[in-house]
Amino acid sequence: MTTSIILDVDTGVDDALAILTAALSPQIELVACTTTWGNVDVDTAARNTAYVLTMAGRTDVPVARGAEGPSNGAPATFSTGVHGEDGQGGQADTSFVPTLTAESAPELIIRLSHERPGELHLVAVGPLTNVADALAADPTLPERIREVTIMGGNFLAPGNITPAAEANIWHDPEAAQRVVEAGWACTFVGLDVTMRDMLEEHHLSELAAGGEIGRYCARILDAYYDFYRGETGRRCAGNHDALAVGVAAGLATATLAPVVPIEIDTTVGPNRGRTTADLRGIHNAWPVVAGARHRAVLATEPGFTERMTRLLAGA
Ligand code: BDR
Ligand code: CA
Repeated sequence: MTTSIILDVDTGVDDALAILTAALSPQIELVACTTTWGNVDVDTAARNTAYVLTMAGRTDVPVARGAEGPSNGAPATFSTGVHGEDGQGGQADTSFVPTLTAESAPELIIRLSHERPGELHLVAVGPLTNVADALAADPTLPERIREVTIMGGNFLAPGNITPAAEANIWHDPEAAQRVVEAGWACTFVGLDVTMRDMLEEHHLSELAAGGEIGRYCARILDAYYDFYRGETGRRCAGNHDALAVGVAAGLATATLAPVVPIEIDTTVGPNRGRTTADLRGIHNAWPVVAGARHRAVLATEPGFTERMTRLLAGA
């Protein structure tokens, strides 16, 4: 079975791997990429997105430009210290001129949802500003989207951008809260799992020995691994965004994903951006929680990163 995906990205290093995985997996129909601010500014994200799609021979996938900064109007701050000024660890082709849709990211999401009601999976792997903007423009959107998967949050694991919060949620907590309040069910693939099935040195070596796409992935991962050495003590990286694509498309299996209420902390203070899931059922074999609809992925079967590496190296 094929999973039809709209992928919302803030193309940094791990987003590039997610895009390539979606573009090259036979089990996925990549319908569109919508771009947002986050790791880098939205224009850089759009350029990087179109670049990797071109590299994968997928110029048929439309790329739309979206939000420039957070919903509350505060100035945007970017994660260039993690992904490089160019979002690709210093390896981007900065002369590449992307072809973008005339429609904005929210407009494209809404139009596609009308054209293919009940068919499309929305997978968001950046701050949730575009998704919240699409909901604001068309509150009936949840009726036509099949599933929503979000790379974001941390439930039992610590945050990464602050002790409490994961970067995508922290960048725009107000947008994230509007997304969880909408009438759809969201699956959160957060740091509890993306910091488990990690990219290691042997994955990088396999990519470096692969074809053009594999070698590009190895080059962009090099600086990303250096950042993670500061976090973990060894050269490696979280495979955040591709794992969300994997879970959405059934290429990665969630082995523990309770359906629970999830709230986003929008206060200004040390807990800003924290995702609070009601996990008290952990002591009682996860009883059904009345009114709950979001899934907090707490464990996945290992092996997805291995399979993704093989796919990208062999492309
Ligand atoms: C998330 O934040 C970004 O830096 C990554 O691309 C990923 O989407 C991980 O916290
Ligand atoms: Ca991302």
